[in-house]
Amino acid sequence: MIILQAVSKLYHDSTYALRDVTFQISRGECCFILGPSGAGKTTLLKILHAMERPSKGQVYLFERDAGKLSGPDIQALRQHMGFIFQDYRLVDDWTVYDNIAAILQILGKSSGYIRKRVWQMLKWAGLQHKVYERAGDLSGGERQRVAIIRAIIHDPDILLADEPVGSLDDAAARFVMNMFYRLHRKGTTLVIASHREDPFIDFARVISLDRGMIVNR
Ligand SMILES: Nc1ncnc2c1ncn2[C@@H]1O[C@H](COP(=O)(O)OP(=O)(O)O)[C@@H](O)[C@H]1O
Ligand SMILES: [Mg+2]
Repeated sequence: MIILQAVSKLYHDSTYALRDVTFQISRGECCFILGPSGAGKTTLLKILHAMERPSKGQVYLFERDAGKLSGPDIQALRQHMGFIFQDYRLVDDWTVYDNIAAILQILGKSSGYIRKRVWQMLKWAGLQHKVYERAGDLSGGERQRVAIIRAIIHDPDILLADEPVGSLDDAAARFVMNMFYRLHRKGTTLVIASHREDPFIDFARVISLDRGMIVNR
């Protein structure tokens, strides 16, 4: 499902953000990318979302060479992916409902479908009571839950998450990790970047990164 072959990434000819990174992630796997700040985790996720191109090496997504895709191909591919940004990127002035529904509107879904789907996901995330609140007024854990359901509302095959529990307290982090666990059980392929080993990730495979390189643990 995801193959990286000898991928290196150099920003502005300075130091390597990634160096000779090779690994594969199979359909349905849950994989943690673990490493300290500056290890290259965000760069790796961006490459997997075709937001950045490798300086060297090959990336295959859904059996296709990402380096050879045109703009419209990349857009089409992203419809099968979800991305959770480290800083959530919700629209603070919009309601929870509008934040989640926006992508389905862009995809041209009917208003009846959108209403049903948004409520279904809010229930799944335990957020029904927050539906008409301003996203900016939610707690960190609630914002992360909204960010997750916004990223999976279109039922992607691959979900990429950048430090999704890094800024949450233990209870909120456990709730979010349980959402990932339920997605994993349902068959979604998950790639989750984290700067610390969490006690809640025993269901995941771990790839450790340090200064852009894969290291043995
Ligand atoms: N857009 C960018 N331009 C230049 N350097 C960058 C950029 N993004 C990341 N870097 C550098 O690449 C390295 C890896 O960064 P990053 O992928 O953000 O690591 P992590 O997410 O593990 O903290 C760091 O040295 C960082 O300064
Ligand atoms: Mg990062």
